[in-house]
Amino acid sequence: MTAIYKGVTLWFTGLSGSGKTTISAAVAKEVRLRDRNVEILDGDIVRTHLSKGLGFSKEDRDTNIRRIGFVANLLSRNGVVAITAAISPYRHIRDEVRAMTADFLEVYVSAPLDVCEKRDVKGLYAKARSGEIKGFTGIDDPYEPPLTPEIICHTDRETIEESTQKVLTELELRGYIPSSKYSSSYSQ
Ligand code: ADX
Repeated sequence: MTAIYKGVTLWFTGLSGSGKTTISAAVAKEVRLRDRNVEILDGDIVRTHLSKGLGFSKEDRDTNIRRIGFVANLLSRNGVVAITAAISPYRHIRDEVRAMTADFLEVYVSAPLDVCEKRDVKGLYAKARSGEIKGFTGIDDPYEPPLTPEIICHTDRETIEESTQKVLTELELRGYIPSSKYSSSYSQ
Protein backbone atom coordinates (compact mmCIF):
# COMPACT_ATOMS: atom_id res chain seq x y z
CA MET A 1 0.00 0.00 0.00
CA THR A 2 1.28 3.48 -0.85
CA ALA A 3 1.84 5.67 2.19
CA ILE A 4 0.02 9.01 2.26
CA TYR A 5 2.21 11.85 3.39
CA LYS A 6 0.85 15.10 4.75
CA GLY A 7 1.95 18.43 3.38
CA VAL A 8 4.08 20.77 5.47
CA THR A 9 5.26 24.35 5.42
CA LEU A 10 9.01 24.32 5.88
CA TRP A 11 9.85 27.87 6.87
CA PHE A 12 13.48 28.95 6.46
CA THR A 13 14.50 32.15 8.20
CA GLY A 14 17.87 33.85 8.55
CA LEU A 15 20.02 36.78 7.53
CA SER A 16 20.72 37.61 3.89
CA GLY A 17 23.62 35.37 2.86
CA SER A 18 23.04 32.85 5.65
CA GLY A 19 22.33 30.05 3.17
CA LYS A 20 18.52 29.86 3.04
CA THR A 21 18.27 29.67 -0.75
CA THR A 22 21.08 27.13 -1.11
CA ILE A 23 19.83 24.74 1.57
CA SER A 24 16.18 25.08 0.61
CA ALA A 25 17.03 24.25 -3.02
CA ALA A 26 19.04 21.18 -1.97
CA VAL A 27 16.23 20.03 0.33
CA ALA A 28 13.63 20.56 -2.43
CA LYS A 29 15.68 18.54 -4.90
CA GLU A 30 15.91 15.59 -2.54
CA VAL A 31 12.25 15.77 -1.48
CA ARG A 32 11.27 15.69 -5.15
CA LEU A 33 13.45 12.60 -5.68
CA ARG A 34 11.33 10.94 -3.01
CA ASP A 35 8.22 11.50 -5.12
CA ARG A 36 6.75 14.30 -3.02
CA ASN A 37 5.33 17.48 -4.56
CA VAL A 38 7.44 20.50 -3.62
CA GLU A 39 7.26 24.24 -4.20
CA ILE A 40 9.78 26.87 -3.14
CA LEU A 41 8.72 30.41 -2.28
CA ASP A 42 12.04 32.25 -2.23
CA GLY A 43 12.08 35.84 -1.00
CA ASP A 44 14.08 37.21 -3.93
CA ILE A 45 11.79 35.52 -6.45
CA VAL A 46 8.51 36.27 -4.68
CA ARG A 47 9.50 39.93 -4.70
CA THR A 48 9.55 39.86 -8.51
CA HIS A 49 5.83 38.94 -8.79
CA LEU A 50 3.60 38.14 -5.77
CA SER A 51 5.23 40.90 -3.74
CA LYS A 52 6.39 43.13 -6.60
CA GLY A 53 6.50 46.75 -5.53
CA LEU A 54 6.95 46.06 -1.84
CA GLY A 55 9.96 47.58 -0.12
CA PHE A 56 11.75 46.82 3.11
CA SER A 57 9.86 48.87 5.71
CA LYS A 58 8.50 46.79 8.58
CA GLU A 59 5.02 47.13 7.12
CA ASP A 60 6.09 45.93 3.66
CA ARG A 61 8.14 43.05 5.04
CA ASP A 62 5.15 41.97 7.15
CA THR A 63 2.92 42.08 4.06
CA ASN A 64 5.48 40.05 2.12
CA ILE A 65 5.69 37.41 4.84
CA ARG A 66 1.91 37.21 5.25
CA ARG A 67 1.54 36.66 1.49
CA ILE A 68 4.21 33.96 1.48
CA GLY A 69 2.59 32.35 4.52
CA PHE A 70 -0.84 32.44 2.88
CA VAL A 71 0.37 30.69 -0.27
CA ALA A 72 2.51 28.19 1.66
CA ASN A 73 -0.52 27.30 3.76
CA LEU A 74 -2.69 26.75 0.67
CA LEU A 75 -0.05 24.44 -0.75
CA SER A 76 0.81 22.51 2.38
CA ARG A 77 -2.79 21.83 3.33
CA ASN A 78 -3.10 20.18 -0.10
CA GLY A 79 -0.24 17.80 0.46
CA VAL A 80 2.66 19.83 -0.91
CA VAL A 81 5.98 20.29 0.85
CA ALA A 82 5.94 24.11 0.70
CA ILE A 83 9.37 25.55 1.33
CA THR A 84 9.79 29.25 2.06
CA ALA A 85 13.09 31.11 2.06
CA ALA A 86 12.67 34.75 3.02
CA ILE A 87 14.62 36.60 5.70
CA SER A 88 11.34 36.94 7.64
CA PRO A 89 13.04 39.03 10.29
CA TYR A 90 10.10 39.54 12.66
CA ARG A 91 9.26 36.83 15.15
CA HIS A 92 5.63 37.83 15.62
CA ILE A 93 4.78 37.50 11.93
CA ARG A 94 6.51 34.12 11.70
CA ASP A 95 4.52 33.03 14.74
CA GLU A 96 1.34 34.39 13.16
CA VAL A 97 1.94 32.22 10.09
CA ARG A 98 2.77 29.25 12.34
CA ALA A 99 -0.54 29.71 14.18
CA MET A 100 -2.58 29.55 10.97
CA THR A 101 -0.69 26.59 9.47
CA ALA A 102 -1.53 23.04 10.55
CA ASP A 103 1.90 21.61 9.76
CA PHE A 104 4.70 24.12 10.20
CA LEU A 105 8.40 23.60 10.78
CA GLU A 106 10.75 26.52 11.29
CA VAL A 107 14.34 26.19 10.10
CA TYR A 108 16.69 28.79 11.53
CA VAL A 109 19.59 29.21 9.11
CA SER A 110 22.13 30.63 11.48
CA ALA A 111 25.42 32.30 10.61
CA PRO A 112 27.01 35.23 12.44
CA LEU A 113 26.54 38.60 10.77
CA ASP A 114 30.27 38.96 10.10
CA VAL A 115 30.28 35.63 8.24
CA CYS A 116 27.30 36.66 6.06
CA GLU A 117 28.95 40.00 5.49
CA LYS A 118 32.22 38.39 4.42
CA ARG A 119 30.34 36.15 1.97
CA ASP A 120 28.45 39.19 0.62
CA VAL A 121 27.17 37.13 -2.31
CA LYS A 122 25.11 40.00 -3.74
CA GLY A 123 27.40 42.86 -2.69
CA LEU A 124 24.56 44.35 -0.64
CA TYR A 125 26.30 44.37 2.75
CA ALA A 126 29.00 46.64 1.32
CA LYS A 127 26.28 48.97 0.03
CA ALA A 128 24.52 48.88 3.41
CA ARG A 129 27.78 49.73 5.22
CA SER A 130 28.47 52.63 2.87
CA GLY A 131 24.94 53.94 3.39
CA GLU A 132 23.90 53.37 -0.21
CA ILE A 133 21.17 51.00 1.07
CA LYS A 134 19.26 52.00 4.19
CA GLY A 135 17.46 49.64 6.54
CA PHE A 136 19.41 46.52 5.67
CA THR A 137 18.65 43.52 7.88
CA GLY A 138 21.40 42.95 10.44
CA ILE A 139 23.08 46.30 9.73
CA ASP A 140 20.51 48.99 10.50
CA ASP A 141 17.34 46.92 10.61
CA PRO A 142 16.44 44.17 13.10
CA TYR A 143 16.62 40.40 12.79
CA GLU A 144 14.85 38.47 15.52
CA PRO A 145 16.05 34.85 15.64
CA PRO A 146 13.50 32.15 16.41
CA LEU A 147 13.42 31.13 20.09
CA THR A 148 12.38 27.51 19.57
CA PRO A 149 12.86 26.55 15.91
CA GLU A 150 12.34 22.89 15.05
CA ILE A 151 15.66 22.85 13.17
CA ILE A 152 18.82 24.97 13.34
CA CYS A 153 21.41 24.90 10.57
CA HIS A 154 24.73 26.44 11.59
CA THR A 155 26.06 27.26 8.14
CA ASP A 156 29.29 28.72 9.51
CA ARG A 157 30.30 25.27 10.81
CA GLU A 158 28.26 22.75 8.83
CA THR A 159 28.63 21.87 5.15
CA ILE A 160 25.65 22.43 2.86
CA GLU A 161 25.24 18.64 2.74
CA GLU A 162 25.18 18.38 6.54
CA SER A 163 22.61 21.15 6.89
CA THR A 164 20.51 19.64 4.10
CA GLN A 165 20.64 16.21 5.69
CA LYS A 166 19.61 17.66 9.05
CA VAL A 167 16.44 19.09 7.50
CA LEU A 168 15.69 15.89 5.57
CA THR A 169 16.13 13.75 8.68
CA GLU A 170 13.65 15.92 10.59
CA LEU A 171 11.14 15.66 7.73
CA GLU A 172 11.58 11.89 7.74
CA LEU A 173 11.26 11.56 11.52
CA ARG A 174 8.07 13.60 11.51
CA GLY A 175 6.64 11.48 8.69
CA TYR A 176 6.46 14.15 5.98
CA ILE A 177 8.72 12.34 3.50
CA PRO A 178 9.67 8.73 2.98
CA SER A 179 13.01 7.66 4.34
CA SER A 180 16.08 7.79 2.14
CA LYS A 181 16.38 4.03 1.82
CA TYR A 182 13.61 4.10 -0.82
CA SER A 183 15.29 6.63 -3.11
CA SER A 184 17.97 9.15 -2.43
CA SER A 185 21.08 10.79 -3.76
CA TYR A 186 22.02 11.31 -0.10
CA SER A 187 21.53 7.67 0.86
CA GLN A 188 24.17 6.13 3.10
S1 ADX B 1 11.93 39.97 4.05
O1 ADX B 1 12.52 40.80 5.10
O2 ADX B 1 10.72 40.55 3.47
O3 ADX B 1 11.72 38.57 4.48
P1 ADX B 1 13.11 38.97 1.62
O4 ADX B 1 13.69 37.66 2.00
O5 ADX B 1 11.79 38.97 0.89
O6 ADX B 1 13.05 39.92 2.91
O7 ADX B 1 14.13 39.75 0.70
C1 ADX B 1 15.46 39.87 1.13
C2 ADX B 1 16.41 40.05 -0.05
O8 ADX B 1 16.19 41.33 -0.64
C3 ADX B 1 17.84 40.02 0.42
O9 ADX B 1 18.41 38.75 0.31
C4 ADX B 1 18.51 41.01 -0.50
O10 ADX B 1 18.90 40.37 -1.68
C5 ADX B 1 17.42 41.98 -0.87
N1 ADX B 1 17.39 43.27 -0.13
C6 ADX B 1 17.35 44.48 -0.70
N2 ADX B 1 17.24 45.45 0.23
C7 ADX B 1 17.23 44.84 1.44
C8 ADX B 1 17.13 45.31 2.78
N3 ADX B 1 17.03 46.60 3.07
N4 ADX B 1 17.14 44.39 3.79
C9 ADX B 1 17.23 43.08 3.49
N5 ADX B 1 17.34 42.57 2.25
C10 ADX B 1 17.32 43.44 1.22
